[in-house]
Amino acid sequence: MATPTLDKPAGAEAGADHLVTVTFRIRRFNPEVSDQASWQDFELAIDPKERVLDGLHKIKWEIDGTLTFRRSCAHGVCGSDAMRINGRNRLACKTLIKDIAVLKDGRGTKPITVEPIQGMTVLKDLVVDMEPFFQAYRDVLPFLITEGNEPSRERLQSPADRARFDDTTKCILCAACTSSCPIYWSDGQYFGPAAIVNAHRFIFDSRDEAAERRLEILNDRDGVWRCRTTFNCTDACPRGIEVTKAIQEVKRALVTRRV
Ligand code: SF4
Ligand code: FES
Repeated sequence: MATPTLDKPAGAEAGADHLVTVTFRIRRFNPEVSDQASWQDFELAIDPKERVLDGLHKIKWEIDGTLTFRRSCAHGVCGSDAMRINGRNRLACKTLIKDIAVLKDGRGTKPITVEPIQGMTVLKDLVVDMEPFFQAYRDVLPFLITEGNEPSRERLQSPADRARFDDTTKCILCAACTSSCPIYWSDGQYFGPAAIVNAHRFIFDSRDEAAERRLEILNDRDGVWRCRTTFNCTDACPRGIEVTKAIQEVKRALVTRRV
């Protein structure tokens, strides 16, 4: 695919001494044009304190409106802009240019590569089909289940009991973990780390009464036992969740049948 020709990089303006010139190398795919994906380079003048998401916006708004990607909150909360940036899963809205570009004399020495996350069908450019991911999430019953005995006031919980699942409440369902998992790449049937993290959040909640049901679901041949403890998921999580530890705790609960 041809590199767009510009008189000056997008975003360049008189007196903008703080800007640097970087190349975004983006994996493009449009099934209406070709069944093959290809790389396309875009040169930008950008403040290195801006984020990869800002660079993608500049490209979309100033160079090529057909560039397709998901984002919503732009502040690390919605989880919609997980991408593979310089070969690693990250949120585009939480990744600063200065942290990933090697700059020399006001220019990036290498292109910043941006690709869709792996292991999921690419629909267009950086947008993948998230439906199998969300189906696995729904399959683990990610909501509080109780069996009658409605309390007359809120369900109480000690700070120690709350702390047992605090880490896994932080998940924003970005899929960075699941799409970095080699087991998930090799066969899309595995529930994947994100679904297990969200099962963990309720299995270890002292107010919930369906831990046994969730454990049985994850005892399936496509459940927790597929995990090979590669730690890719923990490394990929933009929320810093100890994903592998959560998976280990679910495995232990399955063996001991105690939560
Ligand atoms: S566990 Fe982390 S990486 Fe995985 S979906 Fe949740 S926030 Fe994203
Ligand atoms: S756009 Fe919402 S997490 Fe990045």
